Amino acid sequence: MNIKELYIDYFVKKGHKEIPSAPVIPENDPSVLFNTAGMQPLVPYLKGEPHPCGKRLVNAQKCIRTNDLEEVGDTTHHTFFEMLGNWSLGDYFKEESIAYSYEFLTKYLNIPQERLAVTIFAGNGILPEDTESLEIWLSMGIDKNKIAKTSKDNFWIAGEVGPCGTDTEIFYWRSDDEIPEVFDPEDERWVEIWNNVFMQYNKDEKGNITNLPQKNVDTGMGLERIAAVLEGVNDNYLSSIWKDVIAEISDISSLPYSGNEKSMRIIADHIRTACFISADDAGIKPSNTDQGYILRRLIRRAIRHAKKLNIDISSNWEKRIAKVIISKYQKYYKELSKNEKIVYEVLKEEKTRFNKTLEKGLKEFEKIVSKIEEDTINKDLAFKLYDTYGFPIELTEELASEKHIKVDIDGFYEKFKAHQELSRNNSSEKFKGGLAGNSEIEIKYHTATHLLNAALKRVVNEDVHQKGSNITKERMRFDFSCDHKLTEEEKNKIEKLVNDWIEQGLKVNKEEMPKEVALASNAECMFPEKYPDIVTVYSIGDVSKELCGGPHVKNTKELGVFKIKKEEASSAGVRRIKAVLIEK
Ligand code: ALA
Repeated sequence: MNIKELYIDYFVKKGHKEIPSAPVIPENDPSVLFNTAGMQPLVPYLKGEPHPCGKRLVNAQKCIRTNDLEEVGDTTHHTFFEMLGNWSLGDYFKEESIAYSYEFLTKYLNIPQERLAVTIFAGNGILPEDTESLEIWLSMGIDKNKIAKTSKDNFWIAGEVGPCGTDTEIFYWRSDDEIPEVFDPEDERWVEIWNNVFMQYNKDEKGNITNLPQKNVDTGMGLERIAAVLEGVNDNYLSSIWKDVIAEISDISSLPYSGNEKSMRIIADHIRTACFISADDAGIKPSNTDQGYILRRLIRRAIRHAKKLNIDISSNWEKRIAKVIISKYQKYYKELSKNEKIVYEVLKEEKTRFNKTLEKGLKEFEKIVSKIEEDTINKDLAFKLYDTYGFPIELTEELASEKHIKVDIDGFYEKFKAHQELSRNNSSEKFKGGLAGNSEIEIKYHTATHLLNAALKRVVNEDVHQKGSNITKERMRFDFSCDHKLTEEEKNKIEKLVNDWIEQGLKVNKEEMPKEVALASNAECMFPEKYPDIVTVYSIGDVSKELCGGPHVKNTKELGVFKIKKEEASSAGVRRIKAVLIEK
């Protein structure tokens, strides 16, 4: 039996039901891109809803964490990993939880007790020290010198709100050096292998901590780390989990792992994660937003490192690596074999797309570097490399760091965000920004639709609402609810009002706020139910306020002159205006 099977088997024997791993793309939670911990799909049950499989659960959950993406390349970081977890949903608590962990580690994985140490919650003024866990560990025979107390690292929550609690972390001495008498969690030779969280609280948006209706246990043990620890290797990629994948990369490149570790680790890690994202039934494809953008970044970074190893990019190297990964995991994760073809297609298509601009992009990069005066690539150049040559920011950063130059990352993200909001508007009906592109003129038209919407309300009546919009570089089109054809007088008044507002140089303000607050303030909104809990609200002077993804001009003065070209019926009870902006 391997570790995963041993773990599940142990907890099943202790009355736990094995539940399948949830997909990597969360099914009912648009607030996160990926499942990042085993407990995430279990939130409703941690809050008290009965789970169909009972109160004791165990599984291996596929997790993706991409906040440390650029750290991948060292010995321990991965973007995808499997988390072994066991849960008590209002059943057992600290005593059994700690006893199970201790027994599993020492009796089933045969870890000698002296190589183990633990941290417990020290107390923080709000919550008291976890003396209960301290006593339990002492009763297991752990020496008091091997129990450290911290307050910062011993409270666990996924993100900002939700179920949470104090925890106890178990560490393993991963070194041939003599084991020190006193445990210091900062000493890197001690590695954390298992986290037992005692989830008895809930944290709300205001930061208030209240008791959950039940006391839960949520534990998590990273499989790749425990495998490396047990196999006695100091580099996770040398463990049995990665061995075949690294061997395949070595074979493809005809290079040894030694001396080429960084690129091989990046390729192995990124292709594995790309396989799991693209095999997920959510059907994610490389794109410039959300999970699609992560997928794109992973594949492109892997390609760049394949190039560094002189792998012939046009060969089927990526398929060979994916094949090894799929055959390794398909026994546990059926979507891999089911969607195998899709995975190969996604990888190949993205490779072809990126390969078209990669060479030119690398040349452009050299040109930029030879010209810059300070030692920083500014946001415009970084954005150009992204926008024109498809360089994800960490690729630019990596290339730059090889030349000892910096990149204005914050500036890049500013531009990137504005751009992303636009493409989100373009690709999705839900924000109905009606934008077709992201040129300056289209942004102007976008602001003009807000002014037109406001003017219609004042001139026609308060009940006029937007029904749709569409923008091209040449004109804007705006559909609105209205029971009659607009008169010439109405049209003239609307035009004049919009132009007056433009003339007045009204400031356009952007604000983020909870959706209820925005709606209570009477901000315009086409589909309230489609918006997330925190929304962006754009106001123009005090004439218009709308929920909207943006972007917009900063001041109405930028718009020029507004002119209605046509007013016609669109459908029953809906009229349509076509209008243009002309330069003054
Ligand atoms: N949910 C806990 C963690 O991820 C176990 O560390």
